[in-house]
Amino acid sequence: MAKEKMSVTERHYLTLDKIIERHGDKPGGLIRVLAKAQELFGYLSRDVQIHVAEKMCLPVGHVNGVATFYSQFITSPRGKYTVSVCLGTACYVKNGQDVYNRFRELLGVDENGTTEDRMFTLRSTRCIGACSLAPLIAINDHVHGHLTVDDVAGLLGKYQELEAEEEAADIGAEPVRAAGHQAEVSPPN
Ligand code: FES
Repeated sequence: MAKEKMSVTERHYLTLDKIIERHGDKPGGLIRVLAKAQELFGYLSRDVQIHVAEKMCLPVGHVNGVATFYSQFITSPRGKYTVSVCLGTACYVKNGQDVYNRFRELLGVDENGTTEDRMFTLRSTRCIGACSLAPLIAINDHVHGHLTVDDVAGLLGKYQELEAEEEAADIGAEPVRAAGHQAEVSPPN
């Protein structure tokens, strides 16, 4: 009889179980396991937390406490684009907070929130080491420097336009262009 093919999720759980076996009982083991789980699944869903708790014989509340305490862990799904607004000192004094607030207003989400269409997740970060470009933000790996509050709508428009083009390419139709963006910032590749 032919072997049944494992789903990607099943493979991820298998990999995770091996990490638990190898590191679960070592000091800092839970953090290591959760970091691997996040790498595999993208975020630490309730199901993943329960799985880790069962395999490591820990209360779910403890696993959840660790998952929600450390800022590197994400417990809800992320959007396709993560908007990281730097609120380090150099960016902050150059109105980084206003830029952050404008993203919050336009996206309609709070810190670590994801838009309903799962396109954008908003988060603030500390200094990312490019202070000469302050105030800056990153959208996934693309850094956009010297951003003003007035640039925000245009920048989001570029990404929405890119998304519309991708969707149009998928269905072989003409893309609908987003209106009203004028920001002089690096476009997404
Ligand atoms: S403070 Fe924002 S990059 Fe340094």
